[in-house]
Amino acid sequence: NFTPNAFVDDQVAELKEKLQDDKVVLGLSGGVDSTVAAVLLNKAIGKNLYCIFVNNGLLRKNEFQNVLDQYKGMGLNVKGVDATDRFMTALAGLEDPEAKRKAIGKTFIEVFDDEAHLLTDVKWLAQGTIYPDVIESVSVKGPSATIKSHHNVGGLPDYMKLKIVEPLRMLFKDEVRRVGATLGIDPELLGRHPFPGPGLSIRILGDITKEKVRILQEVDAVFIDGLKSWGLYDKVWQAGAILLPVNSVGVMGDERTYEKVVALRAVESTDGMTADWVHLPYEFLMKVSNEIINKVKGVNRVVYDISSKPPATIEWE
Ligand code: XMP
Repeated sequence: NFTPNAFVDDQVAELKEKLQDDKVVLGLSGGVDSTVAAVLLNKAIGKNLYCIFVNNGLLRKNEFQNVLDQYKGMGLNVKGVDATDRFMTALAGLEDPEAKRKAIGKTFIEVFDDEAHLLTDVKWLAQGTIYPDVIESVSVKGPSATIKSHHNVGGLPDYMKLKIVEPLRMLFKDEVRRVGATLGIDPELLGRHPFPGPGLSIRILGDITKEKVRILQEVDAVFIDGLKSWGLYDKVWQAGAILLPVNSVGVMGDERTYEKVVALRAVESTDGMTADWVHLPYEFLMKVSNEIINKVKGVNRVVYDISSKPPATIEWE
């Protein structure tokens, strides 16, 4: 029977013993796993933990600043690195989903490696790997596994020569959340929906531009804020918006418009392997659709995805 308190006590003692006075670097993603790993390590070794939080420019609206502030508020030794332009340059002109994922993984490694180089005498790389990541060895989830899947691409970055410490590697997601609660992490952060490592890039079908990212961030914010204010957020496993690569005709006043279509997606799931679309209330969908079309310039049509996994996937790319 899993007891989060005992886990924390054991791990803190074990980490102290293992890491001694060594310096440790960790990439924060804003997600539950890396956050819990960081807070646990911080409890064990304090300022010897150096956290790096990279903005790839593909996060949700205002997410980078908000989450960075939250991290600082938790007392973490964290550096925020805004690498938006580097990621945009790497993505320029790419349309293929796997090519986009690869470009993002590679850029993340370069940025992280540059940052790790600014630190001297680092001995360890900490990762928020959890048990399902360990079994699904080919999964590409979050910075940790992005690193793994790029192991053999063009030689190892220097920080890969570091020893690896993964304090959550025996835990399931719900256990990670319970450990996080024991550590006093904000329940809102612990209850966050999963969010893919490549971020909004795989929800913008086709090539990525700053303008498309801006449009999708606005649409996504209306949808997610709506779910929260209607008390629906915690009933959904994952939700988001997708910017489709088509324009549709609409009318505004006497004018004909020819603008973007967005799809909303909300699913119920336990592990992401299978998923059912959520029967969101029509009233809610109506309000959100109106708000998106009225507020977000460049969008004139909203559709709702009513496909389950399988055979559809959660993401569209
Ligand atoms: P699919 O679309 O395969 O998604 O049904 C299942 C879960 O995995 C997430 N996902 C990703 N996460 N990097 C990630 O870190 C990726 O490339 C990636 N692709 C999908 C997706 O958001 C869902 O939670």
